[in-house]
Amino acid sequence: MSSVLTWGAGLVGAWLPTFLVVLFTTVLVLNVFGRRPKNFPSGMMILPVVGSLLSMPRGPTMEMLRGLRKKYGDIASFGIFGNRVVVVSSTSLLKEVFALRATADRPEIVFTTVRNRILTDNRISDIGVVGTNGQIWQEQRRFMLHHLRDLGFGKSSYEPVMVEEIAELLDDLEREDGRPLQMKLMGVMFDLFVAGMETTSSSLTTIVHLMTKHPHVQRRVQEELDEVVGRDRLPSFSDMERLPYVQATIHEALRILNLIKLSLPHMTAEDCKLGGYDIPKGTWLMGNLDDAHRNPEYWKNAGTFDPQNFLDENGKFKKNNAFVPFGVGKRVCPGEPLARLELFLFFSHLFQRFTFTLVEEHRPLIETNPMFNTPPDYTARAKYRTK
Ligand code: HEM
Repeated sequence: MSSVLTWGAGLVGAWLPTFLVVLFTTVLVLNVFGRRPKNFPSGMMILPVVGSLLSMPRGPTMEMLRGLRKKYGDIASFGIFGNRVVVVSSTSLLKEVFALRATADRPEIVFTTVRNRILTDNRISDIGVVGTNGQIWQEQRRFMLHHLRDLGFGKSSYEPVMVEEIAELLDDLEREDGRPLQMKLMGVMFDLFVAGMETTSSSLTTIVHLMTKHPHVQRRVQEELDEVVGRDRLPSFSDMERLPYVQATIHEALRILNLIKLSLPHMTAEDCKLGGYDIPKGTWLMGNLDDAHRNPEYWKNAGTFDPQNFLDENGKFKKNNAFVPFGVGKRVCPGEPLARLELFLFFSHLFQRFTFTLVEEHRPLIETNPMFNTPPDYTARAKYRTK
């Protein structure tokens, strides 16, 4: 017995100094490097190099980000590798924070790195709008908006071009005459038209899926189209104001799709004060669009697909400040007017002519990825509506 005790004491004796050194170093690292800057938003423990990976070994997940908002409120923080990340929630704070020039920078994101490698063999890093900063971003964004406007994108003058494309889609659907269609195929056709705009095709795919799942909404959409437009001509952009249910349905589908749920990452261009906190230059910012779209504080029926979320008691279209699928502030999506026009025309033309039913759902909407939601994959049938 006593020899066991002596052996045990020897072991403790041998290991104790090492243990104390490790403990001291850990406390020092946590205290010196892990310490948040003064008046920085509270949140998860942030260590040098690994950030908050000890608390989230699989990286940031949706549960973790939602938990962060619940626990720490409208402005909370975590770390990912060497970067401090501040998550901004609440519609008023989102608008306040992202209206500032100081929050309009973009950190280097994988998309731009890969794109620059492909397009310029990494020789030029300052190309395009999505990943550039400062004066170059401002110039290129202005250039892009100017030319989009010149081409008539997002305005009714662009309507005839778009209507021609939609007519081709309608002809194809008519030829299929109720045979099951892979909606991915429709997405690909749409992609071609908008030159690879995954966003708009994902939205359209989701809207059609939601219509097959909510046939009473589809019927009401068709009734309104019949009442306001009739069947003898195609719906036009100028009908939009008189189609509140159609508009509400498109908005509600975008809310449910919640496509780019934490917007694209931003970065502070200088030290600044946000929501009462001091945020150093180079801090990553994420706009919590997910919370805006799901929080019952902002919506009559937050948890379900319900176009009433965008209608007042008289059936008139009602805007909602928490509807932010295109982001907010200085870097708000410049394609928004074009996307809105496309979605309105495709949706109204399709449902004026066809009734969609679900044949098989291969995969529902995937919401687990913290950056993007993936639209559902399904086979549907488009049946030509007889008068
Ligand atoms: C339903 C369709 C769409 C959705 C939901 C959407 C959403 C978004 C969001 C959330 C952002 C990030 C905003 C931010 O960083 O604060 C963004 C940026 C951007 N979008 Fe869209 N978008 C859509 C369609 C389009 C289209 C059709 C175009 C092109 C014509 C487009 C071009 C861009 C560009 C260039 C940026 C980067 C802007 C910048 O960094 O200054 N988007 N979009």
